[in-house]
Amino acid sequence: MPLQDRYGRTLRYLRLSVTDRCDLRCSYCMPKGFSGFEEPADWLTFDEIERLVGAFARLGVGRVRLTGGEPLLRRDLPVLAGRLAALSGVDDLSLSTNATQLDRHAAALRAAGVRRLNISLDTLRAERHAAIAGRDSHARVLAGIAAAEAAGFDPIKINMVVQGGVNDDEVEDMAAFCLDRGFILRLIETMPVGATGRASGQLELGPLRERLARRFDLVPAALELGGGPARYWQRRDGSGCVGFITPISQHFCASCNRVRLAVDGTLYLCLGQEEKFEFRPLLRGGADDAELEAAIRRAIELKPERHEFRERPDKIVRFMSQTGG
Ligand code: 5AD
Ligand code: SF4
Repeated sequence: MPLQDRYGRTLRYLRLSVTDRCDLRCSYCMPKGFSGFEEPADWLTFDEIERLVGAFARLGVGRVRLTGGEPLLRRDLPVLAGRLAALSGVDDLSLSTNATQLDRHAAALRAAGVRRLNISLDTLRAERHAAIAGRDSHARVLAGIAAAEAAGFDPIKINMVVQGGVNDDEVEDMAAFCLDRGFILRLIETMPVGATGRASGQLELGPLRERLARRFDLVPAALELGGGPARYWQRRDGSGCVGFITPISQHFCASCNRVRLAVDGTLYLCLGQEEKFEFRPLLRGGADDAELEAAIRRAIELKPERHEFRERPDKIVRFMSQTGG
């Protein structure tokens, strides 16, 4: 029986944070000087992750995305990727990365069975990148993107968190860059998660979408790319598309199909709510597979109906890097 929550939603997608650390400090995500990281002793081991993901997969959760923090900071990530890709029931393994170290790992990840990549890129301007991400690593990111292409990843999605007055003047340039290179650009509304997210000025994407549609001759497309919440618009001649992820202006909670596992084994049922379930005590306390599966079913019962980013923007104090982006 597939995993269903109290609202009739079927859960098929696990976002798995393999570390809460990151080599960048994107202003909307992690505060400068942050030190509240999980202790290594509390990180789920590869064995524990493999067991838990295997249990999810037996319950119909066949899509797994490796996230962080920055997932490539977890040592031997391609080894973990290979182990997860080999699990029965896991049929779609993907990765979200800031790409600063992707040039070194792209080929190994691909060989391990990662098919799809999402790369965070908020700007094409090196100085602006340094201002947003707190580190001068734009060239590294571009090298990472090139390595991903060379390794044969397809599709490559580029995620741009749009901030009013910071990079919203660049959406045309980003769209031109991505359409030209065959990447799928997705524009994302900044969510008020943590003080960092709240301080980043929520901008609704509707007007930007109109601007892009006129400039690039985009029309609404009934594309399902990866089964996520993005709504796609494509060029009238079919030569490319741009996605819009609008958790604030048009929320998509009614079709939410995902949960998030943090590196310490906490399962978060919603980005915008506090409901959670701790798997580490079970994994370290000798629970057998049937007990793990029963616990997953109980955890899914806790999934809330929707976020309240508009009604209660102060609610979520944890940072995106802690939940898993
Ligand atoms: N709002 C929206 N997306 C965010 N991310 C991090 N913080 C936020 C936020 N406040 C996402 C970005 C980034 C990924 C790691 O997490 O897409 O690329
Ligand atoms: Fe790191 Fe991603 Fe957060 Fe930026 S948004 S600080 S790259 S985890």
